[in-house]
Amino acid sequence: MITPVIRPRRLRNSPALRRLATETRLHPSEFVLPMFVREGNGDAVPIQSMPGVVQHTIDSARRAVTEAAEAGIGGVMLFGVPSVRDAVGSGATDPDGILNAATRALADEVGDALSVQTDLCLDEFTDHGHCGVLSADGSVDNDATLERYREMALVQAASGSQLLGLSGMMDGQVAAVREALDQNGFVDTAVLAYSAKYASAFYGPFRDAVESTLEGDRRTYQLDPANRREGVREALLDISEGADIVMVKPAMSYLDVLSDVAAVSDIPVWAYQVSGEYAMIEAAAAHGWIDRRRAVEESVLSIRRAGADAVLTYWAVELATWLNERQAR
Ligand code: PBG
Repeated sequence: MITPVIRPRRLRNSPALRRLATETRLHPSEFVLPMFVREGNGDAVPIQSMPGVVQHTIDSARRAVTEAAEAGIGGVMLFGVPSVRDAVGSGATDPDGILNAATRALADEVGDALSVQTDLCLDEFTDHGHCGVLSADGSVDNDATLERYREMALVQAASGSQLLGLSGMMDGQVAAVREALDQNGFVDTAVLAYSAKYASAFYGPFRDAVESTLEGDRRTYQLDPANRREGVREALLDISEGADIVMVKPAMSYLDVLSDVAAVSDIPVWAYQVSGEYAMIEAAAAHGWIDRRRAVEESVLSIRRAGADAVLTYWAVELATWLNERQAR
């Protein structure tokens, strides 16, 4: 009989020892809930491809954000679903546009209980669905888009957003927005750079959620899923441009990039567990093919383990509720 000298199983033998040997723990304060707020009257509208997620009205969003604050999560990231779109995304810079109106309402509702954050990108507001404005030849005009982002940043900051989520993948967007904020007295408004944002199939359900009109794809500005080094390069560039936080997105198919970015970043690194990641687990669980709660917890744990300090996830509040229950026992 061979008797091993080294026995890693020793530390797995009792629940207490397993708890002591745990390397990564989840806490509600490190979750951010993405929320969709729709313009117009009526009720919240369920999103078919994201069971359990809705397009809120401002009223239903007020209730949801109060619940989120009670669960102790760190923040909410707001996306607007406007009723009218045009070529330059005018609704994005209208102080009464849905995203800015919702920001004011929710910031007022929650006060300091959690941070209200906003998506800074034009795709929800343009009739062509791209993240920027177009040149005459139909391509996305990087530098003209930066001007729109600067205007958006000022309106969002004035509306009470504490953290601007720059998700458009335009070159120079962090520096451009930072400068506009600083020149206009918003020195304390923070910038979350979606630095390594990949052109991913996993955004599919999100496009339903915001009723995206996009035809074609975003491959001229979002990263090629094949590229790992380039994700790190983008994060380092955003850090040098003054980002407060860098992000990798999607999360689960990009844990290598996340780990690389976390290894070199001297600012917080977040990850976005996107709509398709959510939909896959929900769909498999609905069929009874996986244990929903265990799969949700394991998925978010893996993202934290790979190096994310915080995670944007549609399960933020439910996950926080589970953790709070466990704490109470
Ligand atoms: C763009 C944006 C997208 C998502 C967040 N911000 C969509 C895209 O780039 O096509 C996707 C989020 C998700 O899938 O959950 N404003």
